[in-house]
Amino acid sequence: MKRLTALFLALTLVFALAGCSGGTKESPSVNTTAQTSAANGENANTQQTDKDGKKILVVYFSSANTAGVDAVSSATPSFDGQGSTEYLANYIHSKAGGDIVKITPVKDYPLSYSACADAAKKETDSGARPEFQPLGVNPEDYDVIFVGYPMWWYTLPMLLYTFFDMYDFSGKTIIPFNTHEGSGDGGTYNEIREFEPGADVLRGLAVRGGKADKAQDEVDSWLAKLGY
Ligand SMILES: Cc1cc2nc3c(=O)[nH]c(=O)nc-3n(C[C@H](O)[C@H](O)[C@H](O)COP(=O)(O)O)c2cc1C
Repeated sequence: MKRLTALFLALTLVFALAGCSGGTKESPSVNTTAQTSAANGENANTQQTDKDGKKILVVYFSSANTAGVDAVSSATPSFDGQGSTEYLANYIHSKAGGDIVKITPVKDYPLSYSACADAAKKETDSGARPEFQPLGVNPEDYDVIFVGYPMWWYTLPMLLYTFFDMYDFSGKTIIPFNTHEGSGDGGTYNEIREFEPGADVLRGLAVRGGKADKAQDEVDSWLAKLGY
């Protein structure tokens, strides 16, 4: 644990580049396939099911928020104005199809890294279950659920604990993915297996947040192995 703590302290400088606001009024909490594709300037991807006729959902939380933030505060691992997990989620969605929704907290996290880190630490230490805005879809209506998040304090952001508390994915397939700056998945895929014992939690993918835009080949080969 001491090693992990030292590692995390060493990475703090890197993390300091990450913004921390969860929600933004400019970003709808629900992006339909067409909306997201349109936002990316691409043709709408109308594929709602995979090759086996299964309904796919990509659901993610991403802290970075550049909307309305000055240049210093917005120095996040941000790509085309998207947080690194958001960037990854949109890329996965462009390949796998289905619907995509963002988990937007009811209460925004602070923009400054240190304040956000403090807020996140308090939530983690107290086992908080922060609320999020209505997703606009029922994730239990889907067969395959890609779930994306950044590592926060060596684990999932507590918003994701709320998410897994709320939904029972028994009989469904969960495919986790995450961004990080050194912790990898930090054992979170196994945590998800414990949260959802009735679900089939497939092999996830952990990507360096600062290199999310360089991970396309890695994502492609991961998806191909999963059959997407
Ligand atoms: C509050 C907070 C805690 C973090 N804790 C960790 C951590 O324990 N391990 C790690 O590798 N990265 C950690 N990071 C770095 C983020 O996981 C990384 O910057 C990620 O790419 C951010 O994703 P986003 O841009 O989608 O929000 C932390 C970042 C923040 C803001």
